[in-house]
Amino acid sequence: MRQHDILIIGAGLAGLRAAFEGITAGLDTAVVTKVHPLRSHSCAAQGGVNAAINENDNWEDHAYDTVKGADFIGDEDSIDLMCKEAPQAVLDLDDMGCPFSREEDGSISQRPFGGANFPRTAYAADRTGHAMLHTLWEQAIKLGTDIYEEYQLLKLCKDKTTGRVSGAVVINIKTGEVEQINAKAVMIATGGFGRLFASNTNAMINTGDGVALAMQAGAHAADLEFVQFHPTGLRSSGLLISEGVRGEGAYLIGKDGKRFMSKYAPNKLELASRDVVSRAEMTEILNGNGVDGAIFLDVRHLGRDLILERLPQIRQLSIDYEGVDPIDDPIPVKPTCHYTMGGIRTSKLGMSHLEGLFAAGESACVSVHGGNRLGANSLLETIVFGKITGKEMVRYIKEEGAKLPQINGDELAEVQRSIADIKARPAESGIRPSVIRSELTESMNKNCSVFRDKERLEKAMASVLKAKEDYKKVCIDDKADEFNTDLLTTLELGNLITLGEATVASAMARHESRGAHTREEYPDRDDKNWRKHTLAIWNNETKSVELDYEDVRTTGNERYIPVERKY
Ligand code: FUM
Repeated sequence: MRQHDILIIGAGLAGLRAAFEGITAGLDTAVVTKVHPLRSHSCAAQGGVNAAINENDNWEDHAYDTVKGADFIGDEDSIDLMCKEAPQAVLDLDDMGCPFSREEDGSISQRPFGGANFPRTAYAADRTGHAMLHTLWEQAIKLGTDIYEEYQLLKLCKDKTTGRVSGAVVINIKTGEVEQINAKAVMIATGGFGRLFASNTNAMINTGDGVALAMQAGAHAADLEFVQFHPTGLRSSGLLISEGVRGEGAYLIGKDGKRFMSKYAPNKLELASRDVVSRAEMTEILNGNGVDGAIFLDVRHLGRDLILERLPQIRQLSIDYEGVDPIDDPIPVKPTCHYTMGGIRTSKLGMSHLEGLFAAGESACVSVHGGNRLGANSLLETIVFGKITGKEMVRYIKEEGAKLPQINGDELAEVQRSIADIKARPAESGIRPSVIRSELTESMNKNCSVFRDKERLEKAMASVLKAKEDYKKVCIDDKADEFNTDLLTTLELGNLITLGEATVASAMARHESRGAHTREEYPDRDDKNWRKHTLAIWNNETKSVELDYEDVRTTGNERYIPVERKY
């Protein structure tokens, strides 16, 4: 039996940052990842990381921008903590050797980003996540981190007597062997579930495995209805074109060639928060000012030199995937699913309400993003709460959880049985996972998107329930053990269906418009009735989602009293 003090699921920035804390505290720390760590989705983050490191900026303004960006449903204590810790978290990475872009005087360069009142986004050209991930990966190698590379999470295990999380059942992708790993503390850092939507900026791996399986183990998920649509995904592929491009001064234009953001956000224009810009774009597209479902991002006036120096990646992506060189032509873009604000509900130190289970990064809901995340607060969340959660696991193990919890032998056998069942189903009589998946994700894209209403959400729920039924008959062609991606993507699909149900149920119940959740029949924010978190709780008897609610954590800071949100 494999065993460790700390078991981290996910090797993106949050997971590796937490591992650093575990190892440097002298604990036996292991990381499970279904891809090589450098292929984690953190690598795709482009525009930058927010921190008040300029002497003319301060963390309180950063926190206010975040509270407002979140549409007053973020937890104020978590937001204060993140913004206060941000400068040190970025400087930690700088000390580790992260190659941030620099000014002439050697200071870290910062650019404007959406919804912020100061240019506080530190960056490494337009490959910031890539630079940060490589930096933490170097540390992981240097420290000799134990990595279970190409292992996929299948189940979280619990001590039968105490209910404490006791480890995980995982599959070794190379061999197909299903194994159980015992640990004193388990952390989920598996990222979000943008792959629930057909058009998205997310890596193939972003299927929310950690969130869905934590729910099934009994953890609460929160605020899943808040799904961010990034205003500038490439028209045909959905690939991300960074907000940093607008930070450098790019314009959004319609088919008439004119800028339109002054109608929607007269002060911040293209640099309003993402929910505002995405709604504006969709309105323009629906009013006939788009071309083939897209509007345009125009960078031509920035000039070749600036584009080549600060935006090389987005130029290459536009050429490769859209056949457009932004030096000469505007890029066709549209709102595309980018980020899930909800996740496993945690305390501000990263503990879920299940003993021994922790979470950080996009898979968690420590609630720093509320109804709408500000661009560049995501990389920040990973390094601040990765660090904090790592330290909290160390404290937990040293003070409360020194003894390994008991393993429950049934859990491994149960997973092995369910895999054998799927493999045993005759292909002729079953339904292919790709069919279920595309029906589900297309429907989510259409019916649970930037604009929502009862009728569309009911259609989305009907698709989720159909997928749930069809999944009972899911069948695969590949019966082998080694690298069986047919099986692995089928298991991921099961997780997407769970999250689809929780997301749509939460969205149907929220009768207001707030942040990224726009209900056309309830156009206003309703602070009296809805300034609260939605909890999505998995009922293991009925195998379905139930909802509950929890108050927003406020700090009494008068600056945070909700006001109408304008940009
Ligand atoms: O637009 C971007 O560069 C994405 C950044 C983010 O989501 O924080």
